[in-house]
Amino acid sequence: MLKGKTIVLGITGSIAAYKAVDVASQLTQSGAKVDVIMTEAATKFIAPLTFQTITGRPVVTNMFTLSSESEVEHISLATADIITIAPATANTIAKLASGIADDMLCATVLASKSPILIAPAMNVNMFENSITQDNLSRLKSRGFTIVGPVSGRLASGKKGLGRFANATDIIGSICQVLGDNGDLDGKHIVVTAGGTQEPIDPVRCITNRSSGKMGYALAEAARDRGAMVTLVTAPTSLTKPIGMEIVNICTAREMYQAVRVATSQTDVLIMAAAVADYCPLRELDEKIKRESTGLTLEMERTPDILVSIKGDFIKVGFAAESNNLVENARQKLQQKDIDLIVANDITSSDSGFCADDNRVTIIDREDRIDNFPLLPKREVADKILDRVAILLATKSKQQL
Ligand code: C5P
Repeated sequence: MLKGKTIVLGITGSIAAYKAVDVASQLTQSGAKVDVIMTEAATKFIAPLTFQTITGRPVVTNMFTLSSESEVEHISLATADIITIAPATANTIAKLASGIADDMLCATVLASKSPILIAPAMNVNMFENSITQDNLSRLKSRGFTIVGPVSGRLASGKKGLGRFANATDIIGSICQVLGDNGDLDGKHIVVTAGGTQEPIDPVRCITNRSSGKMGYALAEAARDRGAMVTLVTAPTSLTKPIGMEIVNICTAREMYQAVRVATSQTDVLIMAAAVADYCPLRELDEKIKRESTGLTLEMERTPDILVSIKGDFIKVGFAAESNNLVENARQKLQQKDIDLIVANDITSSDSGFCADDNRVTIIDREDRIDNFPLLPKREVADKILDRVAILLATKSKQQL
């Protein structure tokens, strides 16, 4: 997503400037070309050399420099794919809202037609001040995207709203803005993720080894291609992605209810979750005591979500298989009456449950079979969405 993108990262004079090093580092590692512009105040908090070392590119601090192509620097930087100001102080926000261009960063923003994203960071009183709020509203109405701030401990020692958003959320928002008008623009996609938990007693449950990584990768990839995403997630240790509706559930029944609500108006349902097939018949109110004899739990079937939830949307299921991958997946596609099935081989630990990568075969109703090598789950997600986008395009042609 970020590979080959040109990103201007504006740093202003906030103590949170040191956290922007992580943003610059992650963007650079993702393959983006990051040009940092620092205001004079920012250089009091952190040295330009830090950003220069991290991004491998010169850092601009001076209004009156020429780029390597002998262009006026703010004009050449203004053509970036996105300008991100992180952290943005109340002062920079006020200048931008009033169209003042007396430093290199504001001049670049004013000279640019690129999308602008800002991540404010400041004292809670400054943030809540109606002047700052008015300025932010003006920037929002002009199409700026605002990420954060979040609540928490501030540099003053007080707690409140004003903390710099975390790097993951800032980068997630950058991806979302860059993906506006993507091939899934305007589509609503419901994705399920993680392993459901079926309670036995107040402290025990039956679950599985799903990490949720495949579902989260699908949700993020769909968001970054312009879709409106609802992520229905069982408990996972993953950071909740920004820019989508998140519905937290625990059990298969709760997932069924949440998916039913979310799919009342959707274009696509992707069931990446590992849903328990059985749950204890009763959840005990008291913790089960250890006895000298064994223990038998009575179990019942959970609803098969893919089968029971019907509607005019594309259904994608997963089939984690340890043998006869294609044959079993084909059968599942027919039994569950779905449009695509993603079969993954779970016989080796480098793919499937918990792994960062997946080796999948995608099969559709016409028995078209696509085999993919071991790929990072984010790349697998894009392969699946490529097929979903084709199905959506075919469906809308048929409806014409
Ligand atoms: O468990 P099974 O291999 O049949 O799962 C295949 C697909 O069905 C997966 O996409 C899974 O999310 C979905 N599923 C479901 N409801 C269940 C069990 C599985 O929707 N109760």
